[in-house]
Amino acid sequence: MLIKSKSKSDVLSSEITPESVYQDRRRFLTGSLGAAFGLATAGFSGLSHAAAGDSLRARAPSDMQRSAPADWWKAKFEAITPAQRSGGFYTNEALTPYSDVVSYNNFYEFGLDKGDPKANSQEFKADPWSVTIEGEVGKPGVYTLEDILKPHAMEERVYRLRCVERWSMVIPWVGFSLADLIKRFEPTSKAKYVQFFTLFDPDSMSGQRSRFTTIAWPYREGLRMDEAMNPLTLLATGLYGNYLPPQNGAPLRLIVPWKYGFKSIKSIVKIRFTETEPETSWNLLAPREYGFYANVNPEVHHPRWRQDMETRLPQTLFSSSRIDTLPFNGYGEQVASLYKGMDLAKFY
Ligand code: MTE
Repeated sequence: MLIKSKSKSDVLSSEITPESVYQDRRRFLTGSLGAAFGLATAGFSGLSHAAAGDSLRARAPSDMQRSAPADWWKAKFEAITPAQRSGGFYTNEALTPYSDVVSYNNFYEFGLDKGDPKANSQEFKADPWSVTIEGEVGKPGVYTLEDILKPHAMEERVYRLRCVERWSMVIPWVGFSLADLIKRFEPTSKAKYVQFFTLFDPDSMSGQRSRFTTIAWPYREGLRMDEAMNPLTLLATGLYGNYLPPQNGAPLRLIVPWKYGFKSIKSIVKIRFTETEPETSWNLLAPREYGFYANVNPEVHHPRWRQDMETRLPQTLFSSSRIDTLPFNGYGEQVASLYKGMDLAKFY
């Protein structure tokens, strides 16, 4: 294992979120004193921001070429053209470096600390993979990953990701609109919501077999149908122009850029169409802290984290990286109309 010594520009997780708050979340998640071990100090290189306009594929890291991809898959990546460099699918803010995007993660299936997902997921196999489509839908079934992805052209989109823990990143994703996938399965008129489930496999996901876990596995999330059909909602299969690494949710994850990061569920194996609002993992765990909607909202604070500011990662010596949080994470123009007339303090 590579042990990296900290430089002055490294950021400690405790600098992003106060240590007491981290301890709280750990205790909360483990429901016990089993959280007595040390906090994450996931190293951040913190040195170079890449410009979002650069050729992304040219910077795809070579360590991601680990296994030979299927031809159809390779062809999809090779066909990627630079994203629409305007409108909501793109931002020219500095990209969070690749090394940070893949080493500072929340993926509780692989552990509670920010470095755990990378450390504990490298043996995770996302191939073969299938996705079950069920519920209020005309074409239910179990589909292979190839069935799911083959008809779709991949796009590259640069989105902000804002975690409820008050850190944010700017990430170049690869994927396609969830709406295009949903249309293929012909939801019925009763389909008002979409629910997503992550793989449940305690053998390969150490966090799921932890004695201290309080999350009801499998991790699940949900969207209202009009949120799922919004063009911004992305099914991501890659980042930085290549495959998703396991710690970022291989082989398929959701990205909902105007909502807190916990809505962006990883490693999806099931999509269910429902008539009523579906259960979500964080809402089940702490309904007063995590609502179904979870829209980024600087005016509605989480009980333990104010939401009007955020730390854009990586932090550097020369800037505090603290920025104002924008309503809907800056995507209000595209999505505010979805919530017209709703009290967003009530529907948090
Ligand atoms: N999906 C699953 N299955 N399990 C998780 O623990 N964490 C969520 C979300 N998706 C999580 C998940 C949270 S809290 C965040 S902030 C984002 O993933 C983090 O995504 P990243 O690690 O790629 O930055």
